[in-house]
Amino acid sequence: MTQTVLHIDASARTNGSTSRDLTAKIVARLNADTVIRRDLTSALPQLTEDWIGANFTPADDRDAVQRDLLALSDQLVDEAIAADTLVIGVPIYNFAVPASLKAWIDLMARVGRTFAYSETGPEGLLKGKRAIIAVASGGTQVGSDIDFATDYLRHMLGFFGITDVQFVAADALMADADAAMARANSAIEALAA
Ligand SMILES: Cc1cc2nc3c(=O)[nH]c(=O)nc-3n(C[C@H](O)[C@H](O)[C@H](O)COP(=O)(O)O)c2cc1C
Repeated sequence: MTQTVLHIDASARTNGSTSRDLTAKIVARLNADTVIRRDLTSALPQLTEDWIGANFTPADDRDAVQRDLLALSDQLVDEAIAADTLVIGVPIYNFAVPASLKAWIDLMARVGRTFAYSETGPEGLLKGKRAIIAVASGGTQVGSDIDFATDYLRHMLGFFGITDVQFVAADALMADADAAMARANSAIEALAA
């Protein structure tokens, strides 16, 4: 079966980045036919009043300026729709996700494209996909009370309909980098290709 991977990196570092090393290994392991690349060092814009107005305008009523405002968001959504698996590299910044990744999430949250309102509440529309998240941190342990990144990511991906989410953590690198990398590498080896 052909497989398409969406490879996202959120580390601001392009050299010496642990999360980038991990996502590269994960993508290599998946051996996908097609890899779509989205590097968040090329900053995504924040939401603006006009963007929100365009998003809240029914698609058929949007003018050319509003369609243009939503074009990047549409492209990001299209990339995720095209992917079978999302591989996302996430450094923990200030106990949470980098602002670049939050910007991606804000642009991904689109009624009628990534989620819909139903009688039973919101329903994710990106069903049947898998996400593998590589997390790097200096001291914050993934799953601890001060990790405000991973539960949030799991929730948002679930909100978009992606419920098959696995974490590969190289956390608390400052405490023992070798042990953290060993944990992450064995988690990668255990991933189904
Ligand atoms: C701006 C900034 C904020 C950080 N905040 C935290 C933090 O809250 N908790 C933590 O454990 N590590 C923190 N770190 C350390 C990074 O998570 C760690 O260096 C990680 O390896 C970064 O990922 P990368 O190697 O892929 O760039 C921070 C690093 C930076 C640059």
